[in-house]
Amino acid sequence: PVAAGPGFPGIGFESIPAETRARNVAVHGGSAGAVVDRVTVPTGYTANLFVAWGDAIMPGGQPFSGTASESAADQARQYGMHTDGMHFFPFNGTDGKPSSERGLLVANNEYTHEDILFTDGQVGAGYTLAKTRKSQAAHGVSVLEARRVGGKWRVAKTSLYGRRITSNTPMRIAGPAAGHALMRTREFVITDTASIATGNMTDGTTCFGTVNNCANGITPWGTYLACEENWNGNFGGTGAVDTSATTEIGKLNRRYGVSAGGFGYRWHTTDARWDVTTNPNEPHLFGWVVEIDPFDPKSVPVKRTALGRFKHESAQYVVDKNGDVALYMGDDEKNEYIYKFVCAGKFNPTNKAANRNLLDSGTLYVARFDGNLVGEWLALVPGTVGKDGVALRDNPNFMGASDAEVLAKILIKTRMAADAVGATMMDRPEWTGARPRINGFSEVEIYCTLTNNDRRGTTPASGNSLDGSTAAGGARPGVDAANPRADNVYGHIIRWREAGQTVRATTFGWDVFVQNGDTATAKAAKPTNDYKGNIVDVPAGSADFGAPDGLWFDPFGRLWVQTDQSGTGSGDWVNIGANCMVCADPNTGEMRRFLTGPNGCEVTGVTMTPDGKTLFVGVQHPGEGSTAANPTQFSSWPQGQWSVASDGVTPLAAGRPRSGVVVITKDDGGVIGS
Ligand code: FEO
Ligand code: CA
Ligand code: CA
Ligand code: CA
Repeated sequence: PVAAGPGFPGIGFESIPAETRARNVAVHGGSAGAVVDRVTVPTGYTANLFVAWGDAIMPGGQPFSGTASESAADQARQYGMHTDGMHFFPFNGTDGKPSSERGLLVANNEYTHEDILFTDGQVGAGYTLAKTRKSQAAHGVSVLEARRVGGKWRVAKTSLYGRRITSNTPMRIAGPAAGHALMRTREFVITDTASIATGNMTDGTTCFGTVNNCANGITPWGTYLACEENWNGNFGGTGAVDTSATTEIGKLNRRYGVSAGGFGYRWHTTDARWDVTTNPNEPHLFGWVVEIDPFDPKSVPVKRTALGRFKHESAQYVVDKNGDVALYMGDDEKNEYIYKFVCAGKFNPTNKAANRNLLDSGTLYVARFDGNLVGEWLALVPGTVGKDGVALRDNPNFMGASDAEVLAKILIKTRMAADAVGATMMDRPEWTGARPRINGFSEVEIYCTLTNNDRRGTTPASGNSLDGSTAAGGARPGVDAANPRADNVYGHIIRWREAGQTVRATTFGWDVFVQNGDTATAKAAKPTNDYKGNIVDVPAGSADFGAPDGLWFDPFGRLWVQTDQSGTGSGDWVNIGANCMVCADPNTGEMRRFLTGPNGCEVTGVTMTPDGKTLFVGVQHPGEGSTAANPTQFSSWPQGQWSVASDGVTPLAAGRPRSGVVVITKDDGGVIGS
């Protein structure tokens, strides 16, 4: 166990072994029988499948076919693909207190794997609008009603709260960038799927849909925040795409990675909304944080432009002792930045409606981490003077008719504004988490996972770079105190404390919480101390992990970290094995491995019931890399592990692997981690 300390209740379980058997059959040349394709949790805990891709979550939903034969309309009533960040919103129980037996589980469905999504997997010849619509329907957010009945967790499959928010759901755009000329697009009236409303979407105040919702957040007023990450990859071009270094659109496309090929989706070939050759402003409607009211199934999601436009990872709120509210956010790409948004108004805990538009007014800051373990929040506002001595309002990239227009441009081009003011380029900022201020701990202390970076120092590699180009050899930063590794294979976690324990602080103190690594030093040919890391565990090396990504403090003060490495347990990961989830003591850094995942998956997304006795954990892309010709080549999870879901009734159909959410309870009925 790990002993309790201030603000931390201790850890009651010992590390489970690394799952080094969960290996890619093709990579290792082994037989399928050698692969252990399962979720494992410590002795004394039980895990089962709660919901997975294709499960019905609302009236009219069909059971998962197992063969991907569902239409787009079917998918629009089923749980989406590739689950990611999520949150359990409790209903009030009969005693008036938040229930731990009934709630809405709201989860992101980050992206799709077309080889598994389509029966024939085809994205080349014969690709159709029907396939585009199904892929779009499998993206977005799933809202479902979760109930514990007779001790078993089940999805209320026909709940009226069940909802899918997809790439085609009508949305409102709010905040300073709404209506700006860069936000106005060609008109699209989508009429070919029943779940989609029509309307004029050309004035920059409304749009269709959300994509690549990676990590998430919530607000203290009970709404959900879906964050748009690799949205650029869903776009493509049927002809030339402006990537000029001198035009406004070209500079935006370069800086945000919009290209003719995208990430291989074919949406733009059948749905011109995604064709940046003919509709070049559509990408500007993505890269935002989307606020959703889960308890109102008719509510229109709102893109909150005041929070900036980048490749959003999570959005972690803090309400400080003064009632001021801030959201802490990472931009997940190599050499990108960490941001915070401070609301102009205060949180009103007694009137939910009073907080409705709190995210539309405030100040967006970007972080600079200085070598003396002090940092500064740099305001991204028209008057801020950049590194070049020029105020943002006089910088040609942001000039406008008024400061209101300058601010709109700063927000649409957030990355470029952060470049201009000299923020610190980080090793891929992923999730942020705020330590609860309980039991003797009172600091505003935020943690952020920095998952990896091979584009710092002199290491030749491809990827994002200082100048926005993706070519190898582009400009790149050297190492610095906050990002000390030239080739950061295993990642690290940084944390900071706001000056004066207030979210309005413009300075903070920081340190590196942990450098991840492999004690057994898979990277034998490289400097060993750089790759071993400094994880504290007993016995030493028993909780090694790398590529920290998901990060979350539970309400009791335990820190949980999830990983997103290559899921094959090969190469640099041969000792660390499958992706996993660990629990950490924020005071001492001591860690224990709690969960290991199935073959080829990433572990991402975590939430619990208010009593702390039920934990939900996301398993994304089991069997990654399998092809349409052999969709079960690398994984048959979850049906390879269980025959029925956690409700004890729903059969897990044989067939292709499914991303899904696992529900975990402690056999003695205690709090998870205790
Ligand atoms: Fe979708 Fe940054 O991980
Ligand atoms: Ca992530
Ligand atoms: Ca990830
Ligand atoms: Ca992944």
